[in-house]
Amino acid sequence: MDSADVGDELTKVLYTPDQLASRLKELAGEIDTEYEGKDLLLVGVLSGAVMVMADLSRALSIHCDMDWMAISSYGSGTQSSGVVRILKDLNTNISGRHVLVVEDIIDTGLTLSYLISNLRSRDPASLDIMTMFRKPEAAKSGVDVRWIGFDIPNEFVVGYGLDYDGRYRNLTSVGTLSPHVYS
Ligand code: XMP
Ligand code: MG
Repeated sequence: MDSADVGDELTKVLYTPDQLASRLKELAGEIDTEYEGKDLLLVGVLSGAVMVMADLSRALSIHCDMDWMAISSYGSGTQSSGVVRILKDLNTNISGRHVLVVEDIIDTGLTLSYLISNLRSRDPASLDIMTMFRKPEAAKSGVDVRWIGFDIPNEFVVGYGLDYDGRYRNLTSVGTLSPHVYS
């Protein structure tokens, strides 16, 4: 679905599909250079990162493997709970692998700092993070993010994999949700 399909459910479109694709192409170029000749494993964080993973991986010129983790941080609301649980672990042994974690959005960084320390204990050759979006709070979390699509304001956004209560993941653009949708 595109922004016309959701009408007044968005207050604003922040990024169009073209803007998302061209930023991903730029990042893919940098990632190509960094991992040239290395055995790259992309680790996507379900479910939000599905779209980023699909588009980033296809924008790369180098080979990569892909694997997925599911962790819980949010319930159905818009606030980070701070409680992190592994719902689905990797199928891959990452020891000695070059791992790039692919995220949709980093807000407080709580989810990611848990995930990174967990993955680091498995002894990868390298471990870095790419996120499509980063909110202002994330900068304070101390999590070092290597590649960032866009720094965005502290507003709840949906689309391109990001959901509100399970909806809007299949929206092709990214926008801010109208308050009337929450209530
Ligand atoms: P933390 O706070 O742990 O949260 O960095 C990261 C996870 O929270 C979700 N999140 C959002 N999801 N719109 C969403 O649809 C948002 O604006 C938003 N902010 C945080 C998301 O699942 C992310 O992985
Ligand atoms: Mg997520």
